[in-house]
This record gives sequence, C-alpha cells and structure tokens, in this order.
Amino acid sequence: IKIINRDVSRAGLVDILGSTQMTNIQGEEVQKLDEFANGVIYRAMDHGGHLCGMASEENEDILPIPSEYPKGKYVLLFDPLDGSSNIDVNVSIGTIFSILRRVTPEGTDGTKDDFFQPGYKQIAAGYAIYGPSAMLVYTAGRGVYGFTLDPSVGEFLLSHDNIRIPEHKGIYSVNEGNYNKWSEGMRNYIDWCKKDIPEENKKAYSLRYIGSMVADVHRTLLYGGVFLYPADVKSHKGKLRLLYEANPMSFIIEQAGGKATDGQGNRLLEIVPDGLHQRTPLVVGSPKNVDEVER
Ligand code: AHG
Ligand code: MN
Ligand code: MN
Repeated sequence: IKIINRDVSRAGLVDILGSTQMTNIQGEEVQKLDEFANGVIYRAMDHGGHLCGMASEENEDILPIPSEYPKGKYVLLFDPLDGSSNIDVNVSIGTIFSILRRVTPEGTDGTKDDFFQPGYKQIAAGYAIYGPSAMLVYTAGRGVYGFTLDPSVGEFLLSHDNIRIPEHKGIYSVNEGNYNKWSEGMRNYIDWCKKDIPEENKKAYSLRYIGSMVADVHRTLLYGGVFLYPADVKSHKGKLRLLYEANPMSFIIEQAGGKATDGQGNRLLEIVPDGLHQRTPLVVGSPKNVDEVER
C-alpha cells in the first residue's frame, strides 16, 4: 500500500497516468496504475509463505504462488486499484482486499474451493484510500480500525480507533444517471430521499457520489448514510464484484455496526460465490438507512 500510494501521489509527474490501451477480464479499459498496483501486490505477497493463491479483479484466473515458494494457509483476493475513472483527475482512489482461510489440504496450490466461500468466512478485509492523506482501514472480525500514513516516519499510525458507523444519516450515494434503468421500487426510494416529509420529521437527503467505491464507502462509514449500486435492466447483477468489492466492504460495514444487503432482503456476506468475477447488487451503510432502502 505504501508503494502504491507513493506512485499514486506522483501520478501527474511520472509517466503513469492514462490507459494501457488494453481491456481487462471485465471488458474495462486498464489504466496504467491498475496494472502497476496489481503487480505490486502480487510481488509483495507471493513469497511470504502465508498464501496458497491470489485472485485479482484484473486477472481472469487464480494467480498461483510460484513453485519455489512455500504454500500457506490463506488466499488473498483484491481490487488493486478501485475508482479507475478518477485516477487521471486527482480524485481519491483505493485498494480493497479480502483474506480467506483455505479449505483444501495444506501445502498444495489453492483451488476454486478456497476462493468460493461466502463472505462471512472472511478472516480479515480492508481497504486503502489514497486521498489527501493515505489511510488503511481493516477488520479482522473484532471491530474496525483506521490508520493514517504519516509520511514523515513512513508508518501507518492508529488514527481511528474502533470505528462505529452512525445509526442513520440523511445522505444517499448512487450513480443516479442510471435512474431510468432501475426497478420501480428503487426509483421510489430515490424519489423519497429527495422529499421533505414534515409529518415524519424527514428532510430531503443530501446526495454525495464520488465514483470510487472506496471513497464513497469510507465517507459512509465515518459520516453515515447509504451507498448503493443497484441492479438495472441492462446489468441484472449490478456492477460491483462480490469477491473483490462487495464482500470486503460488507465485512467492514457490518463490523462497524452497519448493514450490507443486495437490496432484496439478502445479506451479502451469505452469498455463496460461483464465479471469481461475479457481480452483485449492493446496498451498504447505516443500519437504519439500509432498512429504509429495503422497505
Ligand atoms: P474499478 O475502478 O475497480 O473498476 O471500480 C469502479 C467501481 C467503483 O469504484 C465505483 O463505485 C463504481 O465503479 C462507479 O461506477 P459508475 O461509473 O457506473 O458510477
Ligand atoms: Mn473497484
Ligand atoms: Mn479496480
């Protein structure tokens, strides 16, 4: 994360902005920084003996551990660079990761069985946000902790102890340009967000949307509200990826006292994956806001 942050912070100065002119497994344009971050994480994690395999949003198949290195007890899943569309305009981007304990015999290469576990099995998850300062936020299932990088000493220092998400807040975060493609229920919810309803003591909510999931979820974690990426008529499963984005962020949000669902009453962390790159509709945030969406 420190290495990625260093290069992100010099992105306008060194030749790392822009596109590689290639598309990834998701059919999306690959930015140079995506590719760079992907390689940094793989190379940092391939030889430590902890992992028996990795999976990245940028690669079609499981990334094996090189044969010369020992195989460990865990698998690592990651979105090396989240918020790609914001790279070239100096807006916050991030990295998301998820760690599962293997279910296959020790000492061998990890297989799909190790990766296709529901999110509640995660033993740790976190994200880095490259913003005005760099932060690392993680959970190992006993609360959520945030660390801020102090560049003068080169260390992440505990700055956000035991983060708790607010119960409710009048903020919604969604790409509203997709409004006409949503279900009627989803459109009704967004219409309702904008209303003053004096008899219920409800004021119109604020809309905040950055377009980097890490940044939108980070704000939601600290200020409260709800972040949504619903299904629509074109993408029946929404846009965000279950293993690299939805699961790790849902684990963090739940550990901070929030909720994470698919908007149809299903807890995201209980979905049993059947594809490395499968997508899911997503509603995460303050518990009362998520209940409002569900209703
Ligand atoms: P990535 O950059 O890893 O492909 O992820 C982009 C995701 C996520 O960060 C963000 O919430 C969402 O795409 C934004 O999508 P829209 O541009 O459709 O709003
Ligand atoms: Mn992403
Ligand atoms: Mn990405």
